[in-house]
Amino acid sequence: MKLTVVGSGYVGLVTAACFSFAGHDVLCVEKDKKKISSIKKGNLPFYEPNLENLVKEGIKNGRLIFSTDLSLINEFSESVFICVGTPSNPDGSANINYVKKSLKQILLIDNSKLEDIVIKSTVPPGTADRLSSEICEKRNIDLVSCPEFLREGSAVQDFLKPQRIILGLHNQRKRDKFRSIFSPFNRKQDRILFMDPVSAELTKYASNAMLATKISFINELSRYSDLKGANIEKVRMGMGLDSRIGLEYLYPGCGFGGSCFPKDIDALISSAKEANLNLDLIKAVKKINQSQPDYLIDKLSDHYDNQLNGKTISLWGLSFKPNTDDMRSAPALKVISKLLDLGCFLQIYDPKAMENFKNSPLHTPNTLLCNSASETLEGSDGLVICTEWREFFQIDLNVFQRMKSKVVIDGRNIYPLETMKENDIIYYSIGRPFTNIKQGNIELKAS
Ligand SMILES: NC(=O)c1ccc[n+]([C@@H]2O[C@H](COP(=O)([O-])OP(=O)(O)OC[C@H]3O[C@@H](n4cnc5c(N)ncnc54)[C@H](O)[C@@H]3O)[C@@H](O)[C@H]2O)c1
Repeated sequence: MKLTVVGSGYVGLVTAACFSFAGHDVLCVEKDKKKISSIKKGNLPFYEPNLENLVKEGIKNGRLIFSTDLSLINEFSESVFICVGTPSNPDGSANINYVKKSLKQILLIDNSKLEDIVIKSTVPPGTADRLSSEICEKRNIDLVSCPEFLREGSAVQDFLKPQRIILGLHNQRKRDKFRSIFSPFNRKQDRILFMDPVSAELTKYASNAMLATKISFINELSRYSDLKGANIEKVRMGMGLDSRIGLEYLYPGCGFGGSCFPKDIDALISSAKEANLNLDLIKAVKKINQSQPDYLIDKLSDHYDNQLNGKTISLWGLSFKPNTDDMRSAPALKVISKLLDLGCFLQIYDPKAMENFKNSPLHTPNTLLCNSASETLEGSDGLVICTEWREFFQIDLNVFQRMKSKVVIDGRNIYPLETMKENDIIYYSIGRPFTNIKQGNIELKAS
């Protein structure tokens, strides 16, 4: 089929590349000229495993076209997918202006073939129906909701093998058409769920809120575990192996970040408030998450009796999770900001996100970007780990010899406690007890 994707960010570029890989002819329209010209040369605006190959292949075989010119959609209008950003407004509500604007731009084009427009961006429940009556009224066009569930870091795989494809539409006659568009991704088992648009939109927010709740739940319990000397990793397994609970998203850590969870939770709280409903549980999830990076720093601060001023601290991991260079709302940013406020000098390493960090206001003369994880440790008073990149799991622990003091604050529970003890490392993690031999005394520390 001949399809258009509007927006070439994480969702748009993956959607366009995967549709073309599946055999559709795709026009991807992006307003940012620089982005388009660099994508055309094969340079993607962000790092995402396996995406570059798909884009290059699509361009080479002529199935994937990039342009800033929306008028080309006349040739690609069997369906148009809007994948533009929906950032937070200052009050936390979702800013849907980019969606509205692209919708208006699409409708300005004189195209009688255009029958439906699909909103893939995450928008508050009720948006598609509202925009349909506000903007599409005069044209006989269906506004369909098809929220996206891909995860950065495994976006291509998630798109090609989705766990579910949610389609919110009123016009039941369109079902076969959408089945056909998504059929390459729906072969093994039927994973398409049709519903009304408002339910589809709420499904997206409900899913993200549930996953965020699991993370804040285990993070809150890890604080209690610290106080009681329990090991949260054992508790996690003990709980998660119950199939009613599950192990996914039950990892204790320094909190969730990224472009979706924090923003979508804010938007959900705000949208419910507009309907005069207080989402107390979701508010608590947000509150716990906001304080989790502080919990990490408190461990370092306590170790040094609140004397962090002038200390050199190593920091591993900038991106909000591994396999992406996306630092939007990453816990590392909060950790860095706090450590700088406390007067620390930071030696930082991330396998992919260093270029993005160079544009951050936090990149000051007190933040040194290093060429490797090992290099950050030179003469350091402590290491804080914020992202669980694979290479940190595999590191030769002899590198810790480069530190002035072998103090590690692990915000992702990467290392076995026994290994750290054997290597004489003073090790604090999240919700795990650590017996530390210090000054000749054996003291039990809640790590
Ligand atoms: N990033 C994710 O992991 C993810 C996952 C699921 C859902 N979502 C949702 O998908 C939407 C897009 O997210 P993203 O991360 O891809 O955003 P993004 O900011 O990376 O990309 C959006 C792109 O749209 C372009 N754009 C904006 N207005 C345009 C217009 N009128 N015409 C053409 N291009 C236009 C922007 O220049 C930008 O390149 C958001 O609503 C987000 O919540 C994101």
